[in-house]
Amino acid sequence: MDKKSGGQMDIKIDGQDVGKLVIEGKTKCVWDLPKLPGHVLLQSKDRITAGDGVKAHNMEGKAAISNQTNGKIFELLNSVGVRTAYVKSAGEKSFISKKCEMIPIEWVARRLATGSFLKRNPGVPEGYRFNPPVQETFFKDDANHDPQWSEQQIVSADFNVNGRRIGQDEVDIMRRTTILVFEILEKAWATRNCALIDMKIEFGVDSKGDILLADVIDNDSWRLWPSGDKRLMKDKQVYRNLTTVTEADLLDLKKNFKWVVDQLDLLPRVSDSLVVILMGSPSDEEHCKKIAKYCKDFGLQTKLRVTSAHKGTDETLKIAAHYEGSGDKVVFIAVAGRSNGLGPVLSGNTVFPVINCPPVKPDNVTQDIWSSLNVPSGLGCTTVVYPESAALAAAQIHALHDYLVWSHLRVKQLNNFVTLKVADKMIRDMEI
Ligand SMILES: Nc1ncnc2c1ncn2[C@@H]1O[C@H](COP(=O)(O)OP(=O)(O)OP(=O)(O)O)[C@@H](O)[C@H]1O
Ligand SMILES: [Mg+2]
Repeated sequence: MDKKSGGQMDIKIDGQDVGKLVIEGKTKCVWDLPKLPGHVLLQSKDRITAGDGVKAHNMEGKAAISNQTNGKIFELLNSVGVRTAYVKSAGEKSFISKKCEMIPIEWVARRLATGSFLKRNPGVPEGYRFNPPVQETFFKDDANHDPQWSEQQIVSADFNVNGRRIGQDEVDIMRRTTILVFEILEKAWATRNCALIDMKIEFGVDSKGDILLADVIDNDSWRLWPSGDKRLMKDKQVYRNLTTVTEADLLDLKKNFKWVVDQLDLLPRVSDSLVVILMGSPSDEEHCKKIAKYCKDFGLQTKLRVTSAHKGTDETLKIAAHYEGSGDKVVFIAVAGRSNGLGPVLSGNTVFPVINCPPVKPDNVTQDIWSSLNVPSGLGCTTVVYPESAALAAAQIHALHDYLVWSHLRVKQLNNFVTLKVADKMIRDMEI
């Protein structure tokens, strides 16, 4: 801390100049950032708490570990297109976020029944699996132990948050987003052979009135069972379960928290799923580039090749054999005008999926499309006519094994849902 000429204190946290303390909670301090209007610095504390703060301990090193966990999770969510308040890490114990007014609801998603769900739903056995995940909401009110609220209670509360009214549409969007975020993190953790059992998140509204996933997601936010085995749990539940807390317990807890960060470091961050777009002629380049652009939007790797199954059959087969031997996971997209030999020849000579996307135009579509559709027996190539459809079809195939591509697709579907909701609201409220 340095003294300014006017006698005011200059406070630096993780090297950032901070302004006034906006709020201090149990585990974090929120600071204004005078040089970055509309943003705040969220600084984690070396503090672990449970039972609405009744149980609380200092845990040296927790702030840094929580900040890393949160950063890795939000960077993943941002990279697949989830709309979040998280901007970037600011240092060891803090990160920069869009300044939000928070919606005072905890949004919970559960894959398996455990913990408080069992008490609230007697008769449901522990481990009962929800398909899709169950979504619950709790009003943030420590003094009353965060009571569960129904959708109707939230809508009736008619919250006005940063100028945005929280009505049915907003609740629908947050419900869907909660399940989406859970499923993305569940799939991410599955790559580390860990079962994400449940999770809690919060939303805020920024100065533009946008609803953003905000606050933090760290090892306090979920239940995480390696190999799906409750006895191996790594999350804050271990702390909740302790009746007395010794120094040795705190060290063990810290090891768990560190283990979680180390696992997150091992998550694949970039998809290695490959889409090879083969064109029968260089004149199809523009059409192929459109397909590649859509593929990239889903996080896919792309490669363009020129090969004619009619005029250079050997080469076409060599290309197919090259990718068969490469060990890569590949979907072929065949782009051939007029008579499409390319897709069917590839389909007959590789086990990789083949999608035809002929560059048809209104004047030739009725003729040319049949060469892609009316293929000899024994061939299973599929056919679409729009570049976006070809990319989507390839992405849906890769989503079976690639959580990043799956996440991109799911976020796109959520965004479609939100766009339609917004359009519906506008037209509903319009005076005709
Ligand atoms: N992007 C953000 N902009 C503004 N405030 C935020 C943002 N993200 C989180 N906050 C708020 O920061 C405060 C401090 O966080 P902390 O988690 O320590 O609080 P807490 O004691 O757990 O209280 P709460 O029960 O409200 O979470 C919380 O009120 C939280 O809602
Ligand atoms: Mg909190």
